[in-house]
Amino acid sequence: MSNAAITLDRLGLSFVGADRVTPIFEAFDLRVSRGEFVAIVGRSGVGKSTLLRILAGLAKPSAGRFDLALSDKKGTRPIALVFQDSRLLPWRRILANVELGLEGLGLSKQDRRKRAEDALALVGLADQAGKWPHQLSGGQRQRVALARALAVDPDLLLMDEPFAALDAITRRFLQDELLRIRAATGKTILFVTHDVDEALYLADRVVLLAGSPARARLDRRIDAAHPRARDAVASSDLAQDIHRALEV
Ligand SMILES: Nc1ncnc2c1ncn2[C@@H]1O[C@H](COP(=O)(O)OP(=O)(O)OP(=O)(O)O)[C@@H](O)[C@H]1O
Ligand SMILES: [Mg+2]
Repeated sequence: MSNAAITLDRLGLSFVGADRVTPIFEAFDLRVSRGEFVAIVGRSGVGKSTLLRILAGLAKPSAGRFDLALSDKKGTRPIALVFQDSRLLPWRRILANVELGLEGLGLSKQDRRKRAEDALALVGLADQAGKWPHQLSGGQRQRVALARALAVDPDLLLMDEPFAALDAITRRFLQDELLRIRAATGKTILFVTHDVDEALYLADRVVLLAGSPARARLDRRIDAAHPRARDAVASSDLAQDIHRALEV
């Protein structure tokens, strides 16, 4: 069995406007291994969210092909997405929000409940299960969104600036939570961020998208063991290279 979780092969996607066609991707290749944690960085509008949307099946490429090595284990969903905002339903309690993604998977009510409770425990919110979304802080709500994604036991976790709206302290806390969960679950993760330091603190590899159509202007492995020293990460040669590449 191949070790690739994601294979994009000469992928193309353009948006057609009133007076012109904007190519976002053209003959774009990317390969991600199983269990790899890849950070995607790049300027606003380059196509980072579009890339995640393609992988999630929410946008259809116009050329090329992509393969996702996904299991069809009963009671799971192969892909889960986490966005910048938690997108919780205000009229459902926290546990019911986490159960939401588990509906339609053929699980019994008890199984759904148990899976949702386990996922909430994984993000450290077991004691908040009975609350309403408005009773939680922004950081807690984002952890619920992560729990909702993890509850379906996805092979591929797609995260689009999941911590961007949080204050610095909460953000650091959730970064560490994510690393802990990642170590415990071994999920393949594609993580979009504007924050170069965040990318270098979390990921095994960083891919910088640039240009129109977008290319991987830089694609580098980050081998440093966890936990990483935040200061060292921020002042590393790789950090300088990424900042330079973003400025071109
Ligand atoms: N549905 C759409 N129709 C037309 N153009 C779109 C559509 N979705 C995105 N675009 C355009 O495609 C480009 C890439 O958008 P995308 O959302 O992927 O950027 P991004 O890299 O995620 O940016 P940001 O960092 O600001 O989130 C942008 O120029 C955007 O305006
Ligand atoms: Mg985006």
